[in-house]
Amino acid sequence: MKNLIEPHGSSTLNPLFIEDIQKRERILQDADNMKKVLINSAAAANVVMLGAGYFNPLEGFMGKNDAFSVAENLVTENGLFWPIPIINLTKIDDNFAVGEKIALLDPNIEGNPIIAVQEISEITSLNDDELQLLTHKIFGTTDTEHPGVANFLSLGNVMLAGNIQVLNYSYFPEDFPGTFYTAPEIRDMLAKANWGTTVAFQTRNPMHRAHEELCKMALERVEADGVLIHMTLGKLKDGDIPGDIRNKAIEKMVELYFPENTVMITGFGFDMLYAGPREALLHAVFRQNCGCTHLIVGRDHAGVGDYYGPFEAQENFDLDIVKKSLKLKIFSADHTAYSKKLNKVVMMRDVKDHNKDDFVLLSGTKVREMLSNGEELPEEFARKEVAEILMKYYQSL
Ligand code: ADX
Repeated sequence: MKNLIEPHGSSTLNPLFIEDIQKRERILQDADNMKKVLINSAAAANVVMLGAGYFNPLEGFMGKNDAFSVAENLVTENGLFWPIPIINLTKIDDNFAVGEKIALLDPNIEGNPIIAVQEISEITSLNDDELQLLTHKIFGTTDTEHPGVANFLSLGNVMLAGNIQVLNYSYFPEDFPGTFYTAPEIRDMLAKANWGTTVAFQTRNPMHRAHEELCKMALERVEADGVLIHMTLGKLKDGDIPGDIRNKAIEKMVELYFPENTVMITGFGFDMLYAGPREALLHAVFRQNCGCTHLIVGRDHAGVGDYYGPFEAQENFDLDIVKKSLKLKIFSADHTAYSKKLNKVVMMRDVKDHNKDDFVLLSGTKVREMLSNGEELPEEFARKEVAEILMKYYQSL
């Protein structure tokens, strides 16, 4: 039996979901008498990640000192490496008191049921300068054209810190059965498969030939037991392919083009931040919590537009604090595309004699345009069966 990599910051995982049904019922009953606070989707996604063990060893929402220390130096006040402040920002200022327990209501489910209970340890109103500073540190920009920035700056300026007890995983188990998994569940799956070396592939997109080949190259080059395709199931920006369609496309690709028992298709309940290099670090932390030893980080990981350099996310992993704190390693991928000269997908750095025209390159915009017009994508770019699923979706819009 192979050993799994340790979680981040503790020797065992400590998910904040209350497993015991009776205890959960009791908390729910108590919550009836608490102040109810309708949180935003970003905070609810944090709740789901904390509940599902992904944000181990955090015990709840960060206060001001931790949030700014993380934003500026990548560590909490007591020295834990953490890449992005995990905070409950709200517009609601309901005379909360420190020590008070409040019921957090889920904005993403009809009727707004209680998703968690939070014991308030600190209430902070951030001024504009502080919000701008946080934004700049997380996203590298304060440009409100950036979808992550626009969303972050719309959340409010009241920061409620405190430990939470999580009562459910929102819409994820019902909307994505067989894809949404918690970190302990993924650890169990890896242990059962006896995968000691596992490469995680983060994605918010359907997978084309380049993505497929990146997984295969990583599998081979790190001599891994398997690949964990681990997709974002939370909210995305307009224009991104919805989770259910992407899921279908990925399942088809794995079924037809990967050897059996080399891939697990899974997903996690977090809204995409589009924070590029910082988000890549967070991606690494929570893959380690899932038991993965490697994470593929390629071109413009978790990026959007031209806000980040194409390989800036990889550079973050060279920082001393990251090297000393993370056990997971990244598989750094160069720009990958189909070579017409060699008739296969290659990493550009591996074929120094090629020029741009030797590759089949299509921008995301071009792909969307072609699929909407019912034009077939070149087989060198996307698998036919995958393209069919995407075309159906685009034509139904
Ligand atoms: S992400 O926002 O979830 O990172 P996406 O699904 O596009 O976006 O990318 C998944 C992973 O594949 C990221 O690590 C990204 O850097 C990498 N990637 C995507 N396309 C390429 C490519 N053509 N060449 C190299 N890496 C790529």
